[in-house]
Amino acid sequence: MHNDKKTVEFEEILDKINLENPAPAGEPERQYYYIKKARQYVKEKSQELGRKLTACPQTFGCQMNFRDSEKITGILELIGYEVIDSEEADFVIYNTCTVRENANLKVYGHLGKLKGLRKKNPYMMIALCGCMMQESHVVEKIKKSYSFVNLIFGTHNIYKFPELLVTALESQRMVIDIWKDTDQIVEDLPAERKYDFKSGVNIMFGCNNFCSYCIVPYVRGRERSRTPEAIIDEIKRLVADGVVEVMLLGQNVNSYGKNLEEPISFARLLQEIEKVEGLERIRFMTSHPKDLSDELIEVMANSKKVCKHLHLPVQSGSTEILKKMNRRYTKEQYLNLVEKIKTAVPDISLTTDIIVGFPGETEEDFQETLDVVRKVRYDSAFTFIYSKRSGTPAAVMENQVPDDVVKDRFDRLLKEVQSIATEVCAVHEGTVQPVLVEQINHQDAALVTGRLSNNLLVHFRGGADLIGKIVDVKLTECKGFYYIGELI
Ligand code: SAH
Ligand code: SF4
Ligand code: F3S
Repeated sequence: MHNDKKTVEFEEILDKINLENPAPAGEPERQYYYIKKARQYVKEKSQELGRKLTACPQTFGCQMNFRDSEKITGILELIGYEVIDSEEADFVIYNTCTVRENANLKVYGHLGKLKGLRKKNPYMMIALCGCMMQESHVVEKIKKSYSFVNLIFGTHNIYKFPELLVTALESQRMVIDIWKDTDQIVEDLPAERKYDFKSGVNIMFGCNNFCSYCIVPYVRGRERSRTPEAIIDEIKRLVADGVVEVMLLGQNVNSYGKNLEEPISFARLLQEIEKVEGLERIRFMTSHPKDLSDELIEVMANSKKVCKHLHLPVQSGSTEILKKMNRRYTKEQYLNLVEKIKTAVPDISLTTDIIVGFPGETEEDFQETLDVVRKVRYDSAFTFIYSKRSGTPAAVMENQVPDDVVKDRFDRLLKEVQSIATEVCAVHEGTVQPVLVEQINHQDAALVTGRLSNNLLVHFRGGADLIGKIVDVKLTECKGFYYIGELI
């Protein structure tokens, strides 16, 4: 693990804070004050127990949540917790997701288990945050059925975690703070990276698209872009700290920068980021097809650092269903876009998200989706069964598709996706490719696992000294969704 901003820098800031004074009003100074205050409480408790206090942040959901959890972890470490991976900890934090019903069920399952663990450890604290907490019916349910939870906060005030934690430490009751929306972006809080050599970087928050099935705009609020200066500053700091690959994060990166005081396109931002010396690879997600510009295709075609991978969620192949989904493109427009990209960047790897069983989906609609899959030939696709999210327009649409029909379509789609992916993956067999080595192989410690520019994984003989380096690897054998290779 690695801290984005040098720990010494934060120590210097904390040293200067006098807790006798009232908390400052400005951010992030206010949170630094509360980090110092929380640190005192944790130290006292730790002395009383004669051991270090432990904390276990757990992430559900997408890369945004993952990055948010890195921020939570950075704060926890600064406060003095030992961060561990086991829920038998003094402080458990669930960063939740609500994009599909399954995500919610998982959280309730974990909470059920914590009830038992909590009896064993009377000092245990539990906090819930993230997208699920932005839904009032969820908070009601937790108040009623999981009253042992100490702290609940949402997606908009995550930067206030230190202050909220202090309130919870000082309170006997459940502390709840949820904001409906925000226009604020607070910079310069600590973050603790899971990987030394790669990092997610938020470029924007929220979403304005309101696809009719999707809960994200309701729980993440309106679209807000960080300034290019703040983004590049963060990337420069990351690179100085050993990062060679960044993943730019946003629900719709193609509309980045439109609402800034000085508007700038996503393609221009990429060009600026490309100039950062020492940075080797740039990835981004997610791209909404309706906003993908020719300018971006050109930048991708000419860039040395932008990876040859585009995640371009199609959701459905039926123009009729796309309209009901409020995606604002037709099947033909999507296919034309794919053609344009493939022509400009011939070695690009395309991946996608597909939903089956959207209300009103007929067998013909589903055949259109299969047709797109066959025409585009994705490297891989995330396939989802439609999940009704209360509060979204699709939840009250007529003709919800019966479960057995959806399951049957899902199975057929998965088979098609997988058989095409195996063929597409194999085309690189025999070539030599630059690979970023990420870790020792989980199954065989004599091997390391690395990632190609197109996002596929390759396993090859090598040691821990290679981790974080970009090396040339010959792809000797394709195993369906990954390669076996040889370092050259
Ligand atoms: N902003 C991204 C997607 C974020 S959610 C985009 O627009 O592409 C990730 C994926 O979850 C979506 O692409 C969609 O395929 C899926 N998803 C979202 N809501 C869903 C729902 N109600 N049921 C099933 N899948 C859903
Ligand atoms: Fe959801 Fe659509 Fe926004 Fe993606 S673009 S987060 S699918 S509303
Ligand atoms: Fe889930 Fe929230 Fe991401 S709902 S998918 S964690 S934005």
